[in-house]
Amino acid sequence: MLHVIYIRRTGSETMTLIDKEIAIEAKNLKKYFPLQAGLFASLFKKSENKFVHAVDDVSFAIKKGETFGLVGESGCGKSTTGYLILQIEKLTAGSIYFRGVDVVTLSKEALKEVRKDLQIIFQNPYESMSPRFSILDIVAEPLRLLNILDDENEIMQKVLEELTDVGLIPAEDFLDRFPHELSGGQRQRVSIARAFTLNPTFIVADEPVSMLDVSIRVGILKTMQELSRKHGTAFLFITHDLALARTMCDRIAVMYLGRIVEQGPTEEIIHTPLHPYTKALIAAVPSPDPDARRTEELPIIGEVPSGIDIASGCRFHPRCIYAIEKCKEIDPHLEQVKKDHKVACIRYKEINEIK
Ligand SMILES: Nc1ncnc2c1ncn2[C@@H]1O[C@H](COP(=O)(O)OP(=O)(O)OP(=O)(O)O)[C@@H](O)[C@H]1O
Ligand code: SF4
Ligand SMILES: [Mg+2]
Repeated sequence: MLHVIYIRRTGSETMTLIDKEIAIEAKNLKKYFPLQAGLFASLFKKSENKFVHAVDDVSFAIKKGETFGLVGESGCGKSTTGYLILQIEKLTAGSIYFRGVDVVTLSKEALKEVRKDLQIIFQNPYESMSPRFSILDIVAEPLRLLNILDDENEIMQKVLEELTDVGLIPAEDFLDRFPHELSGGQRQRVSIARAFTLNPTFIVADEPVSMLDVSIRVGILKTMQELSRKHGTAFLFITHDLALARTMCDRIAVMYLGRIVEQGPTEEIIHTPLHPYTKALIAAVPSPDPDARRTEELPIIGEVPSGIDIASGCRFHPRCIYAIEKCKEIDPHLEQVKKDHKVACIRYKEINEIK
């Protein structure tokens, strides 16, 4: 495996990657969930074959060692995107390239091999671990399932190392305990230890601290950052919290109704958002300065619609304060506007006074 070299500059500048190698690439991902019709409707009406367009043509590439954020309101398709990449959900269409191979086309056996390198940290650590498994068994599970180690002594040594790395010290004290005996924060640390056990290339972290007490979030996030730096792990960091994405991510993609509407380096997106939806999300972030980012106009109209009947043209047009007639007809796709900065809006130049 290539060694990842990166420079982290001080201040607000983000990480500059020298090694441009891609950890994982998602291409044209789609997931349409069939809508369950009620019994009455299915008896008296012909089925309309409706679908929830949870993920609707999403593409991005994550560099080795990079933390790539996926942000957006509830229901926009963040988790589904993460699950598709790890094949937890079956794709409706699309490809996922890992080490030059589309993992969607792999056999079950070959996929098992790839799984060592692709891991997940769920939002709710309690739901993601068996209550009947000891902490030793939970962290050792990937090692045993994928036959990485079979000597029980070696397994225990490895688990002790991992627990120490995530700050569960002394690690020996945790081995025989059960999830219900741990605090929420300790349980999420166990999930992190399990995700890192096989030294994966890539981890999906799906809202990893949103269920935890605010006071312990920073410590958990710091541990994740330290481990990702130590191992050169790439992250898909899923969050609805833009302020959190700002502290964690090198680049971010903003999702709206199953689509990425803007994508770029984190600080650039925060300081010069080009898409009206990104602008609205940023305006909604509470600022410690009461005069900061005060906006005269309402930045967004109405509530998030469902992903069932998607609006024509730009799917954001019913909520967009800049929408014109043309927006109802043209479906804008991501356009490169600067190096590494893309936006999907036909009016981004006028709105942002770009020549
Ligand atoms: N198994 C499923 N069956 C049917 N619809 C689903 C399923 N999973 C997700 N959806 C729908 O797909 C859309 C995207 O859901 P998803 O969970 O990916 O959103 P999200 O951005 O992660 O939201 P949140 O911030 O609330 O976690 C939503 O409309 C959701 O109701
Ligand atoms: S294309 Fe039109 S509706 Fe869509 S974001 Fe841009 S201005 Fe708004
Ligand atoms: Mg989610």
